Amino acid sequence: MSVAICTFPASDAFGEGLRAELRASPVEIEWRRFPDGESYVRYVEPVRDNNLVIVCTLNDPDSKALALLFAARTARELGAVGVGLVAPYLGYMRQDRRFRDGEAVTSIHFANLISGAFDWLITVDPHLHRRGSLAEIYSIPAVAVSASPALAAWIAANVAKPLIVGPDSESEQWAAEVAAACDAPHVVMSKTRIGDRQVQIDAPSLSRWKGHTPVVLDDIISSARTMALAVRRIVEQGLAAPVCVGVHGIFSADALQTLFEAGPARIVTSNTIEHQSNAIDVSSIVAGELQALLATRVGRRPGGGGGKL
Ligand code: R5P
Repeated sequence: MSVAICTFPASDAFGEGLRAELRASPVEIEWRRFPDGESYVRYVEPVRDNNLVIVCTLNDPDSKALALLFAARTARELGAVGVGLVAPYLGYMRQDRRFRDGEAVTSIHFANLISGAFDWLITVDPHLHRRGSLAEIYSIPAVAVSASPALAAWIAANVAKPLIVGPDSESEQWAAEVAAACDAPHVVMSKTRIGDRQVQIDAPSLSRWKGHTPVVLDDIISSARTMALAVRRIVEQGLAAPVCVGVHGIFSADALQTLFEAGPARIVTSNTIEHQSNAIDVSSIVAGELQALLATRVGRRPGGGGGKL
């Protein structure tokens, strides 16, 4: 069964990396908006008898999700034997409980939508904090690829004497793993979120780490308030200007400017979301997982992966 890869806009470079590694055929998709804002979706090449991989990174998910679901369902109607999703960044993972009465737990609702349309999912470092694994909310096979080896390799090659700093308790999982992989010490700060764009961060004393290069490491840089305040807490203790490393650089609104103003030495992200800060390529790690997953799915029929069509 042949594998075909179809990439949504803003995931082209990542999709091309996967396609080259898997030697898969490209399938072009046309997606445009009608004047009233509704989506028009059309496969330019046939998808019949293909195991179709749709690559769509899910930052700004509200703008993409509906077209993505249309694309998955259309591929089945047109005879694709399987339809999987590679979402290098998986949105809607942070609202994972009802923090206030009446709130929607959107991580679950979004997982239900994706699980209902796709046979499987691969993503990179999803924001699993209160959830232990994607399987708790996704009913299809869902693989979480770790970017840590790529982050650690980049840090080892580019930063002298690194001290890995997690800006909050949620980042401890990444900070500890990356620090171990590049044989560096790590510390974790403590964060209280006051609002969407307001956080408070308390840092432990860092005086014993003078002489190290701090590397603030987080999974997501969204408003960048977390990263910016962590940078300030480090600089005010007299350490060198830190290098900021994020797996997923969303950089909403004024985020990049806010982070620059805090005075980091450098801002670096992986290529799960296209951005000028991309310096760490995780597409080959994803390609390896994708190859392994596709090998387990040869011969399965549509819907056989648990998708609720
Ligand atoms: C949540 O705690 C995440 O790990 C990040 O720290 C958070 O998403 C960053 O958000 P922002 O850039 O808006 O401060």
